[in-house]
Formats: sequence, C-alpha cells, structure tokens
Amino acid sequence: MGFILAAAGSAVGLGNIWKFPGKTGAYGGGAFLLSYIVIVALVGFPVMLAELSIGRATQKNVVGAFHQLNKKWTFAGGIGVLTLFVIMSYYSVVGGWVLKYIFAYLAEPGFGNGTVSYQEYFVNFISEPVQPLAWGFVFLVLCIYVVVKGVSEGIERVSKILMPALFILLVACAVRAVTLPGAGEGLSYMLTIKPGSFNRDTLVGALGQAFFSLSVGMGIMVTYGSYVPKKDNLVKSAACICVLDTLVAFLAAFAIIPVVFVTLGAEGLGMGGGFAFMALPEVFDGLPGGRIFGLFFFVLLFLAALTSAISILESCVAFITEEWKVSRLKATVILSVPMAFLSAGYSLSQLESRNINLPWFDFSKGIQMLPMNAVMEKFTDNLMIPVGSLCFCIFAGWIWGKGKASEEISSGGRYPFRLRRAWEFIVRFVAPAVIVLILYFTVGKGQGLS
Ligand code: ALA
Repeated sequence: MGFILAAAGSAVGLGNIWKFPGKTGAYGGGAFLLSYIVIVALVGFPVMLAELSIGRATQKNVVGAFHQLNKKWTFAGGIGVLTLFVIMSYYSVVGGWVLKYIFAYLAEPGFGNGTVSYQEYFVNFISEPVQPLAWGFVFLVLCIYVVVKGVSEGIERVSKILMPALFILLVACAVRAVTLPGAGEGLSYMLTIKPGSFNRDTLVGALGQAFFSLSVGMGIMVTYGSYVPKKDNLVKSAACICVLDTLVAFLAAFAIIPVVFVTLGAEGLGMGGGFAFMALPEVFDGLPGGRIFGLFFFVLLFLAALTSAISILESCVAFITEEWKVSRLKATVILSVPMAFLSAGYSLSQLESRNINLPWFDFSKGIQMLPMNAVMEKFTDNLMIPVGSLCFCIFAGWIWGKGKASEEISSGGRYPFRLRRAWEFIVRFVAPAVIVLILYFTVGKGQGLS
C-alpha cells in the first residue's frame, strides 16, 4: 500500500488538473477522452510495468539501472534525466501559480468579489513579469528544501492522508459543474465522439498526456521501482496507479469543461492550460462556503503538485549523487541554477504569447523570443517522453534478455503473471509501433515541434 500511494503521489499532480482538462478542451472532447483511456490501458500501463521491473531488478537510479543491465543503453537513462530536468523547470512555474491562488484566497480581499472575473484575474497575473517568477521561485525552493533535507517521507505521509480529501473535493466540484444551468453543452462535448474530431493532434496529445500524467517515459518509475520490495505485486500496483490517476484526471475534466462552456462558451476551449485557475474558483463560488473550499482545494493541489515535483527532482538528484558521487546539496544546486533560468524563460514567454512587452524588452523588436512555454511542453510531452518510453519498451522487450522483465514482474514466479504473453507482445510490438506512429505525426511531414 505504501508504494502504491507514493507512486500515485508522483502520478497525481498538476498534469491531471492543470493539463488534462485543457487538452480535453483543445483536442476534441470525447475523441480525446476515448483515445486517452485506450492509450493508458494499451501503452501506458505496459510501459509502467517495464519501468518498474527495470528499477526493481537493479535498485538503481534511471541512468545507473541501464548502465548496470547494458552499458550501451545508458543513453536511455540520460534521456529520462534530461526530460525530467525540462519538466521540473516549467512544473515549478505552474506550482507557483497554485501558491499565488492560496495567497489570493487568504489575503486578497479583491479576489473573487466580482470586480474582476477569474479569467481576467488569471490572465492579468500571468501577464505580469515579476510576480509569477517570484511565486515559481518559492515553489522551486520548497521542493529543493524537501529533497535536500530528505524529508519527502514526511510530505508523503501528509499527502497520503490528504489525497482522499482532494478526491472528494473533486467529486463535489464535478457534481456541481455538471448540474450547472447550461452545463449540457460542455457535457455533450465530452461525451460525444465525433468521428471528425479524431485527428493526429488528438492522438499525439493523448499519448503525451497519458505518459506525463502516469509519470512514465522519464525514469521516475525506474527510480520508484528501485524502492519496491520483491514481495510486492508489481502488476496490481501498476494497475491501481493507472486507475487512480485516470480517475482524478477525468474528475478534473468533468469539474472544469462544463464551466468553461457556461462562462466562456465554445471559444473558451482554445484557452487551454489556465482552465483550472479560471473555471474552478467559479465552481467554488457556487458551493456553500465556497471560499473555504477554494482555499482548501488549492492547498491540496499544492500538495499534489509538491509530491509530483519531488519525484521529478529526486529522480534527477538520485542520478547525480549516485553517478557523480556528490552530496545531495551540491547535486541540487547543480540542477537548480540552470533550472531557474529555464523557468524564467517559461514564465516570461507567457507575456510574449499575449503580445505584452516588458518595460525593458520589446519582444517585437530584435530577437524574436521562442514561444518557450509551448516549445518546452511539446518538447517533453510529444517528443522526449515518447522517445524515452520507446527506449524502455525496446529494452525490456528485446535487449534485456528473454523473459528477464517478466521474471522480475512476477517476483521470480511468486505471483502468477497471467498477462505475461499479452504484455510481452505489447512491449515488443504494439507499444513501439504506436509510439513510432505518433512520433511520426509529431515530427514527420512538416508537423514541426511548435
Ligand atoms: N505525473 C505528474 C503529473 O501528472 C508529473 O503532474
């Protein structure tokens, strides 16, 4: 149970509540949800098992694990660490947004009093140069503190108690959202699958999102697998994590998309990533004692984000401390300085994508800054994570040695691995084929990264 909850703590995070509803809105509603479930079951779950088995067999960080099993495949671990590094850079910015909302509920009398809509509030906030940077920095420092001090167990213990509360609150929000007058349009957008809305973006989006949300394809599950004792049943644990994570993501979508339709109409769907920050406070206002619920929700979201961020940072730090033999503090400093720069780029590019210039820098003149926010997310979700997952599958299915992964998954025969044949077939053929096809959609045929 301890391992399932820790791994679920890594999986359930901002991906479920910040990214998932935005992608559901942008990539075709029902078509996206259906693609997502199929991809989680057919590809995400088998890749998670592959990663866990590599970690448990070696008891090492992601780079060390591949190095131990086959030196030529060390690069696969390196891909994981690079991906985690980039994810952490923008994860901390969004974590900062959550902190800002906690602060707003606690100390900003103007927040939610009707003078400024939640949508304007959010857009105004992320369009400022300094505040989002500062909050993101606070979030990053908190994560660093937890990882350096090695107090993540304490945080996990707290979050184990509080995560059921997050779940219950999401259920309440979803019930409230789907019963709002005018919610029907949003619901039908999510529940009808129009054949025309299946396109390559739907599939690329669903694959990237499923891997991101399950924390697979980047080595976290290798690191977590290394902490799992042999007596644990990997298949059951992985299945529980996948079900829990998907449930939370769906609840978030049901709590948010109908509200987007009610408040902004179908055009609102294009606004993507900020849904949780624009729509959910609206839902809380409609509940009795809404402000308290709002505050409580963002505190819980912060905890969920923190447990995921810790797993991301911890997996990078484990690599540096174990492979380069430096202290945890040094490893964290080595990582966090360049991370802070990337974070700043991500945060400031929110301004550029809204055509706002900084007092000291006019984006329209001189060098055209990259839309870093979009590039960084697509780089990780649509390129690096699928490439990482592809490597993990090929390694577990073809390179490691016949039956080695299955042997590990069944704890040396202790548990009957009934799905063994199906799993082997999937990691050898189906998952690589699906991932390659989707990578082709991402980078092939003029479908550039941005
Ligand atoms: N899996 C983590 C999340 O969904 C990274 O936020």
